Amino acid sequence: PPVHLQMEGNLGLEQMKCRAKGGSAGFKVAILGASGGIGQPLSMLMKMNPLVSLLHLYDVANTPGVTADISHMDTNAVVRGFLGQQQLEDALVGMDLVIIPAGVPRKPGMTRDDLFNINAGIVKTLCEGIAKCCPKAIVNVISNPVNSTVPIAAEVFKKAGIFDPRKLLGVTMLDVVRTNTFVAEVLGLDPREVDVPVVGGHAGVTILPLLSQVKPPCSFTADETNYLTSRIQNGGTEVVEAKAGTGSATLSMAYAAVKFAESCLRGLRGDASVVQCSFVASQVTELPFFASKVRLGHHGVEEIYPLGPLSEYERAGLDKAKEELAASINKGVAFAKK
Ligand code: NAI
Repeated sequence: PPVHLQMEGNLGLEQMKCRAKGGSAGFKVAILGASGGIGQPLSMLMKMNPLVSLLHLYDVANTPGVTADISHMDTNAVVRGFLGQQQLEDALVGMDLVIIPAGVPRKPGMTRDDLFNINAGIVKTLCEGIAKCCPKAIVNVISNPVNSTVPIAAEVFKKAGIFDPRKLLGVTMLDVVRTNTFVAEVLGLDPREVDVPVVGGHAGVTILPLLSQVKPPCSFTADETNYLTSRIQNGGTEVVEAKAGTGSATLSMAYAAVKFAESCLRGLRGDASVVQCSFVASQVTELPFFASKVRLGHHGVEEIYPLGPLSEYERAGLDKAKEELAASINKGVAFAKK
């Protein structure tokens, strides 16, 4: 049997089809880059998600092992593994949601933009596959630099004539997760009670936490605002340095990616008022892409919310963020058009 059938754990094809169709109205989800530092815990957490009925794990390395391992978990989702470029299309056909954590991570001293040369090409190839095999799927882009890889994905989809801006979402959820955690620490609250919008993009000064809009409402001193903004903007670097050359955030990223993917699936299912921050094609500013709060629904992004009232500190941050974002977006578009 083909490799992907050998990797379905102990289920026969008929049994598997039956379960995939079966009682639970689950979604079909593919993870591209499933064997990586993010990919593995992300695959595990998605296997535990009751909204998922079929989980396709694709990578250019090690998917047989990861798939065999995860397929033994006694949860509902059926798991299939796909290895190498020649199995990309099989991995994508019929998917409702595709999550992309494929590509190299940072080492100490690197910016996310330093990853561009390798990751831009990876994201482009994967998106060409999506355009061909599951053009209506929701796509969650994790691969960095998100500020450029999302515009690359959009260009690939435009070229294929299938671009639907509602369905392409850059994952900035880890910035929100970090912000809620760091803010809760300062306020002495349970992080689950804290909600702060983070807008702009996903790199350095483009990460703009709107601390003036924190829920529950409260105010910060200038020192607290400076400390929090700087820690949030450098949260990724904090992890890169602590890991000392072995990679960047993987576990907190997998947690954040699942939180975000679950919101996308709940939107698809028709749940009301599902709102998250995401880097999307947007008219909130003059830039073609921007991260802000979006409402998720049957078609992906159903509504993009305006930024709301900003403090003077945040307005200055927004100007800086836009300048860097514009350059990163243009770099992505130029690469894809080349
Ligand atoms: P990793 O190196 O541990 O894993 C990457 C995986 O991608 C590997 O298994 C590799 O085989 C696979 N891969 C490489 N080329 C591929 C291709 N053409 N097709 C399919 N798979 C391919 O890296 P890690 O730590 O999992 O990070 C992945 C990406 O996520 C990086 O670009 C990193 O910068 C980004 N990231 C994004 C964050 C965000 O907030 N959006 C946060 C943390 C990381």
